[in-house]
Amino acid sequence: MDALRTVTPLAEARASGFAQCLLDGLSRTPKEIPCKYFYDEEGSRLFEAICDLPEYYQTRTETALLARHADEIAALIGPKAEIVEFGAGALKKVRLLLDAAAPNAYTPIDISGDYLLAVTRALAADYPNLGLRPVVADFTAALCLPPLPGVRARAGFFPGSTIGNFKPDAAAGLLRRMRAGLNGGSLLIGVDLVKDPARLHAAYNDAAGITALFNKNLLARANRELEGDFDLDGFDHYAPYNPAARRIEMYLVSRRRQSATVCGHRFDFAQGEAVHTEDSHKYTPDGFAQLAARAGWRVTRQWRDVEGLFLLAWMESV
Ligand code: AVI
Repeated sequence: MDALRTVTPLAEARASGFAQCLLDGLSRTPKEIPCKYFYDEEGSRLFEAICDLPEYYQTRTETALLARHADEIAALIGPKAEIVEFGAGALKKVRLLLDAAAPNAYTPIDISGDYLLAVTRALAADYPNLGLRPVVADFTAALCLPPLPGVRARAGFFPGSTIGNFKPDAAAGLLRRMRAGLNGGSLLIGVDLVKDPARLHAAYNDAAGITALFNKNLLARANRELEGDFDLDGFDHYAPYNPAARRIEMYLVSRRRQSATVCGHRFDFAQGEAVHTEDSHKYTPDGFAQLAARAGWRVTRQWRDVEGLFLLAWMESV
């Protein structure tokens, strides 16, 4: 007990996944920071703000698709169902499915425990007859959900095009694990489509500079949690579209030669040196169906907006 009491907040932070990944990623050439660390409280708030930006078409296009096709999706989900949402976040989009499909149960999975419990409580007030089982977990890990009494079918829900933040091999692995976790159930997934590079560039380089703040929040978070001394003005947000790889690549680029210390470790940055922070892969409908097939899924129904910006795919286990 005494030993536990003497653990300082910094010592605890040093043992955290963020500290380990940051120290490891900044020691590599080229430097990198995994994108899952964007989402502390401030990063989640900035991401919500991104979703409302005029340039970020993804959220409103996907929401409109869900609203428009909710009845058809509800028929596919069927009666006495459980909806399992991966990386549930604010639990906003799922309300469209809950209203249309009236499932028996909803299982939101998210890594941010306090936040998940708060949003689940708010949802419970609006859906008093819905069975809720929030699961605090990393949705990318293997999942074992015991069956719920009275539930006949399981439907996974993975909106937001988060699948694009995984390299194709990792994305196939994730879809495979989801298939195992859903145990014969289906999966409704949102996928951002290949399009005019200028449109994609604008979505990740917004005029208000919110995406730049979101990107730099990785350094701000290191300053807050890990006694870092990054100069946020010493780095530029850089997010070009790579048309050959069909992905947005996001970087923090050092404006000058500088060094920064985090967790007592010093890192040097050359002028113009880039720290890779995120990829956001875009798919064609066929390309996505091929990726899904590698993971044992067949796309049996799909919906797109008239501009062809975004895809909602309903997949069944092969
Ligand atoms: C969460 N994910 C799907 C977003 C995307 O579009 O790749 C994250 C994001 N990065 C910058 N803007 C939004």
